[in-house]
Amino acid sequence: MSNTDKIVLTGIKPTGMPHLGNYIGALKPLIEQAKTNKTFMFIADLHALNSIHDSNMIKQHTYEIAAMLIALGLNLDNAILFRQSDIDEIYQLNTLLMNVTPKGLMNRAHSYKAAMDKNIANGDDVDAGVNMGLYTYPILMTADILLYNSDIVPVGADQKQHVEFARDIAGYFNHTYGDTFKMPEPVIGHDTGLVPGLDGRKMSKSYDNTIALFAPEKELKKKIMRIITDSKAPEDAKNPDESTIYQLYKHFASQSEIAEFAEMFRAGGMGYGTAKTILFDKINAVLAGPRAEYERLMANTAEIDAILADGAKRAKAIATETLARVKKAMLG
Ligand code: ADP
Ligand code: TRP
Repeated sequence: MSNTDKIVLTGIKPTGMPHLGNYIGALKPLIEQAKTNKTFMFIADLHALNSIHDSNMIKQHTYEIAAMLIALGLNLDNAILFRQSDIDEIYQLNTLLMNVTPKGLMNRAHSYKAAMDKNIANGDDVDAGVNMGLYTYPILMTADILLYNSDIVPVGADQKQHVEFARDIAGYFNHTYGDTFKMPEPVIGHDTGLVPGLDGRKMSKSYDNTIALFAPEKELKKKIMRIITDSKAPEDAKNPDESTIYQLYKHFASQSEIAEFAEMFRAGGMGYGTAKTILFDKINAVLAGPRAEYERLMANTAEIDAILADGAKRAKAIATETLARVKKAMLG
C-alpha cells in the first residue's frame, strides 16, 4: 500500500479556538495530508462531554472547529468532515469494546492519571471529579479509530498512548474473535518544530501565551506587539534564531522573505518594533482570507450543518459495515 492509499483519521475536541501553535504543529499538516489521502476528520464532541456540561457551549465550539477547517481549505472530496455524535454506530461499538478492554489498561491512561495526580497533589480523594466518560475516554477513542478502518492516526505526543491502547484493544479483539480490525498507527508530527508563544516558551494554553488562529486583526496586532524581546537597541546586530519574532515569521513567509528577514536581524538597524510590524503584516496577509471565510461561515451555520450532514452520511456508510462485522463476530 502506498502512503497515499492509507486512511487517515483524526478527531479534534471542541474546546475552543486553536492557537497558532496548534495550527502550525497539527492543523496545517493535517489539511496538507488531506489533499492526497482519504481522511476522516471529526469533531470529537462526545469526548468533550466529560468536561463540558453546557450543550450550547459544545454546539458553539463544534461550529468553530468545523468552520475553521473549512475556512483553511480542507479538501472536502478526500476529507470526510463530521460530528462524532452524529454517527450512532460509535455508541454501539464503544459498548461492545468495553468487553475486551482490561480495566487495568484504563487505570494507566494518561488522561485519567493526570486527573488522579492533580487530586493527590490537592489532598483530595484520588477519584474526585472523575466521571466514567473521563475514565473510559480511551475506549471511545479506540472505537473512533477502529470504526473507520484507520491506518494512520496523526496525534500530538500527549495522545500517542491512547492510539497505542487502540492497537492493544484491536489486538485483544482479533485474538478472541478472529481477524476483524486493522492495526492503526500513531503518527506524531515532529518536523514543524515548536512554535514559541508571546513569552518565548512553547505556545500553549497552559502558559497563557497564545495567539488565537483567527484573532481579529486588532487583537492579532496587540498580541504581536506584546511579544517579549531582549533589550537590544535598534542598531544592534541580533541573532534571529534567538528571536520569537523571527521564529514565528518563519512559519508564514516564503524562503526568500525568511532569508531577507534573518539578514535584517543580523545586520542591525532594525528595531524590534519594526520587526513586529513586519511579522504582523505577514501573518495578517496569510490569515486574512481564511479569517473572513471563517467569520462568514459562523454567521451562516446552516452552511456548516449541510457540510457536516454530508460528512455524516459518508462516514455512516463505513461505520455500518464495520459495526455489522463486529456484531457478527461477537454475537453471531
Ligand atoms: P496546548 O499545549 O495549547 O494545550 P495541545 O496539547 O492541545 O496544545 O496541542 C494540540 C496539537 O497542537 C498537538 O498536536 C500539538 O503537538 C500541537 N501543538 C500545540 N502547541 C504547539 C506548539 N507550540 N508548536 C507546535 N505544535 C503545537
Ligand atoms: N482525544 C483527542 C484529543 O483530546 C481527540 C480524539 C478523539 C481523537 N478521538 C480521536 C484523536 C481519534 C485521534 C483519533 O485531542
